[in-house]
Amino acid sequence: MSTAVMNYAMIGGGKDSFIGGVHRKAAALDGRTRLVAGAFSSTPERSLESARAIGVPEDRAYGSWREMLSAEADREKHGRVDFVSIVTPNHMHFAPAKAALEAGFHVVCDKPFTLTPGEAEELIALADARNLVCAVTYNYTGFPMIRHAAELCRTGQLGTIRKVFVEYHQGWLATALESTGMKQAAWRTDPAKAGLGGSLGDIGTHAENLISFVTGLEIESLCADLTSFVHGRELDDDAAVLIRFADSIAKGVLTCSQVCVGEGNALSLRVYGDAGGLTWRLGSPDNLVVAPLEGDPITLTRGGDQLCDRAKLATRLPPGHPEGFIEAFANIYLGVVEAIEAKRSGCEPTGLGAEIPTATDGLRGVRFVETCVESAREGNRWVEFS
Ligand SMILES: NC(=O)c1ccc[n+]([C@@H]2O[C@H](COP(=O)([O-])OP(=O)(O)OC[C@H]3O[C@@H](n4cnc5c(N)ncnc54)[C@H](O)[C@@H]3O)[C@@H](O)[C@H]2O)c1
Repeated sequence: MSTAVMNYAMIGGGKDSFIGGVHRKAAALDGRTRLVAGAFSSTPERSLESARAIGVPEDRAYGSWREMLSAEADREKHGRVDFVSIVTPNHMHFAPAKAALEAGFHVVCDKPFTLTPGEAEELIALADARNLVCAVTYNYTGFPMIRHAAELCRTGQLGTIRKVFVEYHQGWLATALESTGMKQAAWRTDPAKAGLGGSLGDIGTHAENLISFVTGLEIESLCADLTSFVHGRELDDDAAVLIRFADSIAKGVLTCSQVCVGEGNALSLRVYGDAGGLTWRLGSPDNLVVAPLEGDPITLTRGGDQLCDRAKLATRLPPGHPEGFIEAFANIYLGVVEAIEAKRSGCEPTGLGAEIPTATDGLRGVRFVETCVESAREGNRWVEFS
C-alpha cells in the first residue's frame, strides 16, 4: 500500500471560516496530505493573516486564487500542488474549480458543487478530458455505517425498497441572523452567493446525496413545498419534498429545515423494504439499527465483525472508541488520494478511492435544487427530474 504524501492548496477556508478547518483536519488525519499553499480569503491581507495562523509558508500564501493557480502551475512539476481544495461560499466554486482543472490540478470542492447544472456539466467534461479527479465533499457518505447501509440496500437485504425518509433539520437560522452581520448566515441567504436554494442547497443536497448513495435509486420526479419562514428572507429556510424513483415502487420523503429551534444537525436516514428496515442517525453515527421482518431490531456497531468490507475499510478504531464527523470526512480525503494515485497508474480506483463522491454526484445535487425550486414556483407541481 502506498504511503506517499500529496501536496494540496486551499481556496477559501480562512481562519474564521467554518468548514475549511474541518477539511484541513480531515485531510491531515491519515498523514497522506500536506497543505502547502493557499488563497484563504477574498483579500490579500486576510489571506496572509490566515496563512500565518494556519501555518502555511508566506511565500505560498497568495493574494487571490487566480494568482495562486498561475504561480503553482509555473512551479516545477515535482514541487507543485497535486490537488486543490475549494471551500469558498457557493458562488465562488465554479470559477476556481474550472481554472484549477484547466491548470491540470485535481479538485476537491464543497457542495453545492455549482450554482447551475450547466456549470457542473462543464466541470465534469473538463475533468474527464484531462483525466483528473474532481470530488465533491458529500462527507456523510464517509461514515462506515452509511457504507454498510448502502451494502444492505444495494444487495437486496431489505428486499424491495418501499419507503425512504431522510431528514436534515437545524435551528440556527430561525431568526434573521443575516441582518446581524453574521457572515455565514449572510451569504447563505443571498441568492447571488448561495444559488437558487437556501436550506435546500445548504443541507438538502446532503440529504439527496444520502438517498442516492445508500439506496442506489434514481429520482424520477418530485414535488416540493418550500417556505421562507423568516420575514424578508429571499431563499427557502424549510423544504419538504416528495420523491418518486425510476423503475421502482419506492416513494421518498425528504425534509430539510434551518428553522427547527433546538436542533443542531439532526440528520437521519430510514429505509424500509418488504423484507426489513434500517435507521441511521448522525447523533449516534457508529450505530445502524436493522430490523428484520420478524423479530426484534438489532443494532449493528461500527468496528463489528459482521460489517461489510466497505464499512471495515472506512474504520480506524475498534468498537467502543467513538468515531465521528472528522473521521468520515477523512475517508473522503483518503479516497481522493487513492483515486488520484489510481489515475496516475492508469487503473480503476478500488477501496476508498472507488467510493468518493464525484462531480456527477455534484451535478445531481444542483439539479435537485433546481427541480425543487421549479416545482415550488409552479404551485407544488410534480416535476420530472432529468
Ligand atoms: N460538507 C459540509 O458538511 C459543509 C459544511 C459547511 C459548509 N459547507 C460548504 O462549504 C463552503 C464554505 O462554507 P463555510 O461555512 O465554511 O463558509 P465561511 O463563510 O465560514 O467561509 C468561507 C471562506 O471563504 C473565503 N472566501 C470568500 N471568497 C473568497 C475568494 N474569492 N477567494 C478566497 N477565499 C474566499 C472567506 O474569506 C472564508 O474564509 C460552502 O460552499 C458551504 O456550502 C459544507
